[in-house]
Amino acid sequence: MKKRKIILDCDPGHDDAIAILLAGKNPIFDLLGITVASGNQTLAKTGRNALNLVQYLELDVPVCLGAVNPIIKEVEVCEAIHGESGLDGFDFPPLEIDFDKRNAMEFMIEEILKSKEKVTMITTGPMTNLGLALRIEPKIIENIEEIVLMGGSYQNGNVTPAAEFNIYCDPEAAYICFNSGVKVTMVGLDVTRKVKVFSHIIDRMEKINNNGSDLFVKLMRVFNENQKKVFGFDGSPLHDPVTIGYLINPDLLEIQHVHCDIDISHGTSYGRTNCDIFDFLELERNTYIAKDIDEEMFWDMIEEALKRY
Ligand code: BDR
Ligand code: CA
Repeated sequence: MKKRKIILDCDPGHDDAIAILLAGKNPIFDLLGITVASGNQTLAKTGRNALNLVQYLELDVPVCLGAVNPIIKEVEVCEAIHGESGLDGFDFPPLEIDFDKRNAMEFMIEEILKSKEKVTMITTGPMTNLGLALRIEPKIIENIEEIVLMGGSYQNGNVTPAAEFNIYCDPEAAYICFNSGVKVTMVGLDVTRKVKVFSHIIDRMEKINNNGSDLFVKLMRVFNENQKKVFGFDGSPLHDPVTIGYLINPDLLEIQHVHCDIDISHGTSYGRTNCDIFDFLELERNTYIAKDIDEEMFWDMIEEALKRY
């Protein structure tokens, strides 16, 4: 079976960690590398978290640091949810591996241009690195299969009434990616809010009793405590791994092809993914958006992935 070549650009982050875990040992993927954005914490911290995850999960993949700052805005982090380290809740052993020498943009450009098959780009953080890579070397557009991102929402946001965190952190980068001409699949809050890590899910995964489940359980307990403090609900939405789940089996999501405009107006809707689901404007459909998710299939995927560790 031909493996699908993927690059995962992320900002770990509790749910990013589970996205890495879901992709890391699945034989259908050829994970070319993990590139890191600032977002849930500063780049120094998300980068360190990515290295810790790769080492702990025993993944043999390069980790590349991306841009320190978003393209136009200043860095905004999400400490209230992901903690001071960006990945509070798990004690990793001392680090013995280091970053790849290439930065994220150099890595993306080099790997995409040299690949014989098209590469799928997954982003689970602000889209800064991919946006910059597309601007630095537009030739990569032809060899990208698809961009699958966690971000946005056709309904409400989670940092402003209009905007979701990943898009809000770097709306201009998202604008570049959505308008690049590459197929874009947006996995937004509309579906990721439906897969919440309730305590019965933690209990189910704990029974696996291996390195993967230990990581999952400890991270998710802290993730849940913090979500409860900030949003007041039980069970954290496990946003980021839904992107990987969709690539494992597209039947996971119900998708609609729509026109989507990223608001870069700097007004109250700055960072909104404005999705014309009723086709009012009759504009070119440039984005596939996720509208519903098969929750049972998702948790089965997580369980199956954890067993590989
Ligand atoms: C997104 O924001 C981050 O805090 C999460 O890791 C996820 O990528 C959800 O809005
Ligand atoms: Ca993330």
